[in-house]
Amino acid sequence: MMWSVVILCVLLPFTSGLDNGLARTPPMGWMSWERFRCNVDCKNDPDNCISAKLLMQMADRMAADGYLDAGYEYLSVDDCWMAKERSHLMGTLVADPERFPNGMKAVIDYVHSRGLKFGIYGSVGNKTCKGYPGNKYHMERDAATYAEWGVDMLKLDCCNPGPNFVTGFEQMGLYLNKTGRPILYGCSLAICMGPKVDYNLAKKYCNMWRNYEDVEDSWKYVFNIIEFYGKNDKKFLEIAGPGGWNDADELIVGDFSLSAGQQQTQMGLWAIMATPLFMSVDLRNIDESAKQLLLNKKLLAIHQDPLGIAGKRIWNIDGYTGRLESWLRPLSPEGRYAVGIFNKNVGGLLQMVNRTMSQLGLTDENGYTMKEVFTGISYGPYKSSDSLVILLPPSNLFLAVATPVTEKELIVS
Ligand code: GLA
Repeated sequence: MMWSVVILCVLLPFTSGLDNGLARTPPMGWMSWERFRCNVDCKNDPDNCISAKLLMQMADRMAADGYLDAGYEYLSVDDCWMAKERSHLMGTLVADPERFPNGMKAVIDYVHSRGLKFGIYGSVGNKTCKGYPGNKYHMERDAATYAEWGVDMLKLDCCNPGPNFVTGFEQMGLYLNKTGRPILYGCSLAICMGPKVDYNLAKKYCNMWRNYEDVEDSWKYVFNIIEFYGKNDKKFLEIAGPGGWNDADELIVGDFSLSAGQQQTQMGLWAIMATPLFMSVDLRNIDESAKQLLLNKKLLAIHQDPLGIAGKRIWNIDGYTGRLESWLRPLSPEGRYAVGIFNKNVGGLLQMVNRTMSQLGLTDENGYTMKEVFTGISYGPYKSSDSLVILLPPSNLFLAVATPVTEKELIVS
């Protein structure tokens, strides 16, 4: 009897999954990695190095320039925030003392005072990807430190993982829960599991999980991620839902390499795929069109739709006559959809799209009206056999919300 009680007590903390009530819709925020990388050279580049100053300036911009109001609530520091060693006395994690002269808690308090939530970064292995202290062997202590500092999100990476990293991801989830503080938990599973990401583990323990390679500031990377999500080989888009989301990695909207159309394509498809929207851009210096795209209310409403069903690619032509694909995401109230048509061609021609409603997956007998998200242009009403005819530039996305025509509207017309 005694023994069974002991065994139960030992097993209990590891038998329930992560259930923290967070991420009912895909998370939104800002993350330092893609744009600011591991720049620790505050001496020569004081405005762009990973430091208290950078994070506080971003917090100011997020709060003052409308990003927070639009839903971007997490400000998340990535790799390279730490000192190279844990504290000698307690073995706890410490922020680099030169770049964070008042410690991390002071920065987090500042971020909170701006109405934002704070995200931090660790690794399930004994080192982060850039060689800073990892969480392995210290999971419980580190979860407690995060909670004490007021951390609201953890991105747990998977560099230098060692053999038991799967257990590490589970354990960190449970220790975060144990702190009693709601901490959004992002698991970078693909970084060590590659295409073998364990989606059961992901859904059970994490609020979001990376399932593909890192995005970089180049269209090629964005395109490959879209292809991976389009193929959806392991049916991971069906696994996503309130509480747990596939993470296609950061937005590079407003950075250096995407055309205006490509930026719309990334934003639009990220919204359809219901993948987190983490900007990684210098908000102190962003051009107006990128800013307006990040703040596009119609697009963000698709992303945050309360049904929480991720959209999918419904057809894909990779042929001789053109490369085109179409996406569909069910929206609330029932019957509405987000429709994405993506011209994947690289040749300069405008691609003719000529598709009936039913070919786009829209089958309501009363037909549909459509409103394009980037231009505000209205289309229809169309019966299900009527065609949408548009010309689409290369790497551009047509993104529209399709609403079924009501009986009343039918009678009037
Ligand atoms: C990995 C992650 C990136 C970033 C870096 C930091 O590559 O996938 O998102 O966190 O590590 O070193």
